[in-house]
Amino acid sequence: MGRKKIALVGAGQIGGTMAHLIAGRELGDVVLVDIKEGMPQGKALDITEATPIMKSDCKLIGTNDYKDMEGADVVIVTAGVPRKPGMSRDDLLGINKKIMEAVAPNIKKYAPDAYVIVVANPLDIMVHLMKKITGFPKNRVMGMAGILDTARFRAFLAMETGFSVQEINAMVLGGHGDTMVPMPRYANVNGVPISKFISEERIEEIVTRTRKGGGEIVGLLKTGSAFYAPAEAAIQMATAILHDQKRLLPCAAYLEGEYGVNGFFIGVPVVLGADGVEKIIELDLNDKEKEMFATSVDHVKKLIGELEAMN
Ligand code: LAC
Repeated sequence: MGRKKIALVGAGQIGGTMAHLIAGRELGDVVLVDIKEGMPQGKALDITEATPIMKSDCKLIGTNDYKDMEGADVVIVTAGVPRKPGMSRDDLLGINKKIMEAVAPNIKKYAPDAYVIVVANPLDIMVHLMKKITGFPKNRVMGMAGILDTARFRAFLAMETGFSVQEINAMVLGGHGDTMVPMPRYANVNGVPISKFISEERIEEIVTRTRKGGGEIVGLLKTGSAFYAPAEAAIQMATAILHDQKRLLPCAAYLEGEYGVNGFFIGVPVVLGADGVEKIIELDLNDKEKEMFATSVDHVKKLIGELEAMN
């Protein structure tokens, strides 16, 4: 069996962190692509120099040439501009649209069989654009957001209860923005509903913190957005595909009728395996969740409208 090849488009903080994680776990060989001269080469070489200590046989290269993505099994796209304090993810629409329009045709050209995981913001819109430009089937184009938002929710629930993060299961649906839909009803500590340990009022506060989790990090870092947790989340998706794990994870997936949505990407639980998004799991939402989900979908649709008006 040949070695797996993972192309990371964007060698910024998330791209570099992902390259490091992939090398540490020997998930595959890495091609780090960026338009900045020297930066992808420098990061790839730095990690390569760490591999003897890490006992990792991964090969890493950095490049400014999209052609080096040839034959990639998975492409993860973080290329784009992160937000600054006070900005919403939506403020990045115009600039990251242009970047996606430069990147997507190259993926289509050089990695036509790849599974593509989009991480750039506004997430649900950038992944839409990726699918539109590449024309790849819906099982091969997906967005990373739900795992990150859920991990934040789980981390906060662990801080609150004192239980191991490993025991805490949760689910966040909807778009990756302030309208996301954390689902406390599905949150539990190894099967025990979270409501046994936390008051409704505190759960509501934790939900609010989760919704604003990305902004909280931007506010602290001041010079960029989160990268450790987003990198872990995207690598979890790549691993599920490359190892055919059949994991049930929330991802931005292209819906065709599920959840009453047609022709848009939105965060829902999916099964991730060797065939990419192998299945979409439809949950029964209660009235409140349905309303929040609808608000989130409307927001994504509005942004797609703005995107189309830019052409
Ligand atoms: C966040 C950015 C990556 O949520 O969207 O941190």
